[in-house]
Amino acid sequence: MKEEARKIIVTGGAGFIGSAVIRYLINEIGCFVLNLDKLTYAGNLNSLKNETINPKYTFKKIDICDTQSLTSIICEYRPNIIMHLAAESHVDRSIDGPSEFIQTNIIGTYNLLEASRSYWSKLYDKHKEEFRFHHISTDEVFGSLGMQGAFTENTRYDPRSPYSASKASADHLVRAWHETFGLPVVLSNCSNNYGPYHFPEKLIPLMIIKALKGEPMPVYGSGNNVRDWLYVDDHARALYTIASRGRAGESYNVGGNSEVSNIQVVERICAILNELSPRKDGKRYEEQITFVSDRPGHDFRYAIDATKIKSELDWVPLETFETGLRKTVEWYLDNQKWWQPLLNKHYQGQRLGKSAD
Ligand code: NAD
Ligand code: TYD
Repeated sequence: MKEEARKIIVTGGAGFIGSAVIRYLINEIGCFVLNLDKLTYAGNLNSLKNETINPKYTFKKIDICDTQSLTSIICEYRPNIIMHLAAESHVDRSIDGPSEFIQTNIIGTYNLLEASRSYWSKLYDKHKEEFRFHHISTDEVFGSLGMQGAFTENTRYDPRSPYSASKASADHLVRAWHETFGLPVVLSNCSNNYGPYHFPEKLIPLMIIKALKGEPMPVYGSGNNVRDWLYVDDHARALYTIASRGRAGESYNVGGNSEVSNIQVVERICAILNELSPRKDGKRYEEQITFVSDRPGHDFRYAIDATKIKSELDWVPLETFETGLRKTVEWYLDNQKWWQPLLNKHYQGQRLGKSAD
């Protein structure tokens, strides 16, 4: 099939990664895209301003827990691919209130699988064979690593937070729908993303904004926890590669080859800001770094072995952490009009995820 003729449904397309995927699909690949999103606090159509006016793009406000609407919209749109990103995505919020995570991430995924199966089972020949249900998941399902090693596709599941447990449940459901009903699924488990349009409660945007506002920059625990950072546009490209060329029934790990401890991330943000937007009082941003109590059940280290996606699908990340972080800081400096309304309306920078204290 000609790539530009493909019709793709993206769930959660108003979120951080979903909006990057839609920008990539519309602007780089030229597909038709239907964005299904409930528009929770994390959903923001301002991340898709240019795409909204593109005739290839359609948006429907929908909750993936609403089975009926979901089934009828999928049958009406007739997609070649469904890319499922809609989720509650923040570990800290899953500590404060797990209920929405169970609803959206588990029940919502089940609904989407059933709606997709109902549509797929009525397809014929090539359309049936080529259809893909792509479930976008996280490396957090594999649990916490020590100083050594990396997660492969065969690592045993060992989720520790309500968020990662809900994503692990969804992964199992997706695999079961493949084994039991033959639904052609692909899965991907990726590491921490960063980049433009990231909601201000996550580590990197939060630290940039706290620094600029002259507020304490709260590092949990010792700051020695390690994440493998992946630039969001690299991830969007990986996701389309997997959705369009991945083998049915397979899962692919996606990582950025960029393991960095939290304290190093924050120090690098400070260094870039000292250069690009120095404090008016002549002091350095590092002075705002503050160590706070740790997250309950804080996973120590995540690291991805991305050999499979490289050897099978020829995907590698293009951005290093240095280049990606600089681009990200520059974007937040230039786009206060995107993030300031979120602080006014949805999130005032308060500490989340301390409920076990
Ligand atoms: P996000 O929180 O920025 O966006 C989630 C989107 O889903 C929002 O637009 C929200 O409105 C929508 N949504 C939530 N509940 C919904 C529902 N019931 N029905 C329809 N839409 C709903 O999340 P993100 O960071 O863009 O993550 C996207 C996906 O990637 C998630 O599945 C997440 O688990 C996974 N993931 C994220 C990361 C990361 O670092 N951000 C890493 C690995 C995997
Ligand atoms: P986060 O962006 O919440 O992603 P995740 O929990 O999915 O990895 O956090 C990334 C890391 O940064 C994680 O180890 C927790 C830490 N962190 C802080 O130290 N301070 C903060 O204010 C936040 C939000 C996170």
